[in-house]
Amino acid sequence: MKRIPPAFFINCAAYTAVDKAESERELAFQVNAEAVGTIASLCEKYKCRLIHISTDYVFDGKGASPYLPDSPTGPQSVYGASKLAGEQKARAANPDCIIIRTSWVYSEFGKNFVKTMLRLMGEKPEIGVVEDQWGSPTYAADLAEAIMKIIAGDNWVPGIYHFSNTGAITWHQFASTIRDLGGYNTVVNPIPSSAYPVPATRPSYSVMDTESIAKTFDITLKPWQESLAVCLDRLKKLCKSHEKGIDIVKNFAHLCAIFINSYPSSEFPH
Ligand SMILES: NC(=O)c1ccc[n+]([C@@H]2O[C@H](COP(=O)([O-])OP(=O)(O)OC[C@H]3O[C@@H](n4cnc5c(N)ncnc54)[C@H](OP(=O)(O)O)[C@@H]3O)[C@@H](O)[C@H]2O)c1
Repeated sequence: MKRIPPAFFINCAAYTAVDKAESERELAFQVNAEAVGTIASLCEKYKCRLIHISTDYVFDGKGASPYLPDSPTGPQSVYGASKLAGEQKARAANPDCIIIRTSWVYSEFGKNFVKTMLRLMGEKPEIGVVEDQWGSPTYAADLAEAIMKIIAGDNWVPGIYHFSNTGAITWHQFASTIRDLGGYNTVVNPIPSSAYPVPATRPSYSVMDTESIAKTFDITLKPWQESLAVCLDRLKKLCKSHEKGIDIVKNFAHLCAIFINSYPSSEFPH
C-alpha cells in the first residue's frame, strides 16, 4: 500500500468456517476483527477508500421484519460476534469506510449452498433441507456489480448498508427452486433445524432491509429467483465448456495475459 496506494480496498477476506469458529474463537477474531482493524487503519493512513463485507449473522434472528442497518445486533455465534467486532474496529479506525452486510451468498464459483444442492440432487433421490430459517439469497455477481457502481460513482457515503437479492425465503424454498430450475426430480423434504444439529446457532430470521443501499447509490436490487436462474445458466455453460475439454480457468488466465501484454506498462490500470 505504501508503494502503490490503491484508491479502493475491498475486503472480502474472512474466517468463514461458521461451525469451526465455535472452537477456534481466537483465530476467528484475529481474522475477522483484528485484521480488519489493521486494514482500516492502513486505508485511513494511505487515504484509500475501504469497502468491508460483513454478514447478516450479526443479528440475533429473533425479529420478524427486515433488519435495518441500525437495528440492534446480537450475534448468536462466534463467527457473527467476530464479524460484528470487525465492523466496529473498521468504523473506529476509519469512519469513512463503507460496510456492506450480505447474506446467503452463492455463485458458480467456490463452495456454496447452490452448488452443494446441485451435487446432492445429482446423487440422491431424496434430501432434507431446513425450513425454519428465513433469509435472502445473494448472487455474488450482483453484489460485485453493486460494489463496482459505488466505486465508479461520485457519491461516497460512509456507513453500514445491507445488500441481498430481494425476497425472503427459507433454505427449503431455496433448495426446492434450485431443484426445479436445475431440472432434478429429487424430493426435497422440509426439516426443522433441530433435525440438523450443528455447533453454531444460525439466526432463524435474518432478512435485511436493503432500501438504503438502493437509494443512496441508485442500485436496483434483483429478485432472488431471477439471479438464481442467471447463475444456474452460467453454471450450465461452464459445465458444457468443461465437457468439451475447455478449461475455463486456463482460458481466463490466457485472456488476462493477452490483456496485460497489450497494455503499455506505463498505462496499466492499478
Ligand atoms: N458466504 C456467505 O453466505 C456469506 C454471507 C454473509 C457474509 N459473507 C461474507 O462475505 C465475505 C466473503 O465470504 P465467502 O463466502 O466468499 O467466503 P470464502 O469463500 O471462505 O472466502 C474467504 C476468503 O478469505 C480468505 N482468507 C481467509 N483467511 C485469510 C487470512 N488469514 N489471510 C488472507 N486471506 C484469508 C480466503 O482465502 P483462501 O481462499 O486462500 O483460503 C478466501 O479467499 C466474508 O466477509 C464473509 O463474512 C458471506
